[in-house]
Amino acid sequence: MEKTLYIETVGCQMNMLDSEMIVAELRQQGYRVTTRISDADTIFFNTCSVREHAEEKIYSALGKVRQIKQQHPDKIIGVVGCMAQKDQDGIFHRAPFVDLVVGPGQLRQIPQLLERIRQGAGRQLEVGLGRKDASLEIVKRSHETFDPLRDPTMRNSPAQAYLRIQIGCDKFCTYCIVPMVRGPEQGRPPEQILAEARTLADQGCKEITLLGQTVNSYRYRNGDTTTRLSDLIYQIHEIAGLRRIKFVTNYPKDMTNDLLQAVAELPKCSPYLHVPVQSGSNRILASMKRGYTVEEYRDMVDRIRATVPNSAISSDFIVGFSGETDADFQQTCELVRDMRFKNSFIFKYSVRPGTKGAELLVDDVPMDVKRQRNQELLALQNAICEEDNQAFVGQTHEILVEGPSKRARQQQAAEEQAAMESTNASTPESQELTESDYEMSDGIVQLVGRTHCDRIVVFDGMARQVGQFVQVSVHEANAHTLFGTVVTREVGPELYQLA
Ligand code: 5AD
Ligand code: SF4
Repeated sequence: MEKTLYIETVGCQMNMLDSEMIVAELRQQGYRVTTRISDADTIFFNTCSVREHAEEKIYSALGKVRQIKQQHPDKIIGVVGCMAQKDQDGIFHRAPFVDLVVGPGQLRQIPQLLERIRQGAGRQLEVGLGRKDASLEIVKRSHETFDPLRDPTMRNSPAQAYLRIQIGCDKFCTYCIVPMVRGPEQGRPPEQILAEARTLADQGCKEITLLGQTVNSYRYRNGDTTTRLSDLIYQIHEIAGLRRIKFVTNYPKDMTNDLLQAVAELPKCSPYLHVPVQSGSNRILASMKRGYTVEEYRDMVDRIRATVPNSAISSDFIVGFSGETDADFQQTCELVRDMRFKNSFIFKYSVRPGTKGAELLVDDVPMDVKRQRNQELLALQNAICEEDNQAFVGQTHEILVEGPSKRARQQQAAEEQAAMESTNASTPESQELTESDYEMSDGIVQLVGRTHCDRIVVFDGMARQVGQFVQVSVHEANAHTLFGTVVTREVGPELYQLA
């Protein structure tokens, strides 16, 4: 009998990739994927623990699933990923109808665990060891990277893929749960990474984003040879068919000159660097245990700008961290004013049980102050984005087309809804949309893509251009988006046949 999987994913790119891997593996076992929860006999939530809000979202989604399970006890409900590792059997206590809890280091075991449940073995729990539960080697082995097959149909865009080069984190910033739930930092062997990059290129991938919690800390030692991120990038750059290489997330202290040199020298390497600073106050950085000062961060940005011309730098910030005064926050604002980041992700501090921050520091900034600082910093960053984006008006950029714009997708959804209501017909078997679904009657569709430096561009084009490179002339810009017109439809790979 055909089995049907529904999977809901929250959190970071690592989780998106894990979901792609889970789907690929289960498809091999005969599962079909559905986007409608009511059609599924296996319902998975791939979860995030980085902030309390992400966890609440999952528990509230689980609350809705309770009814489904009551009506269909045979359906299997699974909670996988970071929250599974963090809460472990606590998930069974809070949501007793859950059948399966699997940590991010145990994803490989999912097919067997599902089989065991179907055979009547009852609830299954598989998680990795805690950081202090055993020797480092044994803890490492209990957090296994999961990179089986690549499934192009699970990606948002046919030409783009994530590629994991590292799991875990050893930095232990005091606010962060990641080192506890994703375990010790471990780099994947370079041969595996390169083989996977070639597979992706063969599948038609033109852009690869290398993933790691602190991606630029990547080191792989084999005897006397050490492979660094820069070495990997030089090798990936050789792969025919690939046109863009990105990597996230960078740790400021590990932004070495060899890496910046690689970004500057290699035309396929996007001049885009996400290097979160988190705060502009030395006192707060020290209490976060980030391992650098604001001055060191500023020097690093100067080095990036001197080595990689026209680079775009983006950052993350936490506002309202323990002990953050108004003066600390003003220093963060000053840094944002000076750095002119391409964009910043701003988060309100959320205490994570199990971190040093939860153990040793007091969460003493009231929620309304956190909220207010968040809005103030966001407004400041938005004003900078808006100003800096104006410089793009009048320029022509090469864009990798990612898909229909948000507006086109909403319009499509509204049209489908209207069609359903007027005919009272049921929705198609699968809700996976194809490119042609988005096309308007005259064949023109609003598309979205990105420049080499990761800026979002919206323009009118053809659905068949999804996954292609087009030249777009920019005529308007706001804080988040550039708007333009296609000047050349497609650019061949010959551009990258370098002398
Ligand atoms: N509270 C708020 N934001 C957090 N982040 C990580 N941990 C927390 C937390 N406890 C933010 C950091 C990180 C991003 C992925 O999430 O800014 O860079
Ligand atoms: Fe968390 Fe710090 Fe590691 Fe980033 S570097 S994953 S913020 S502990």
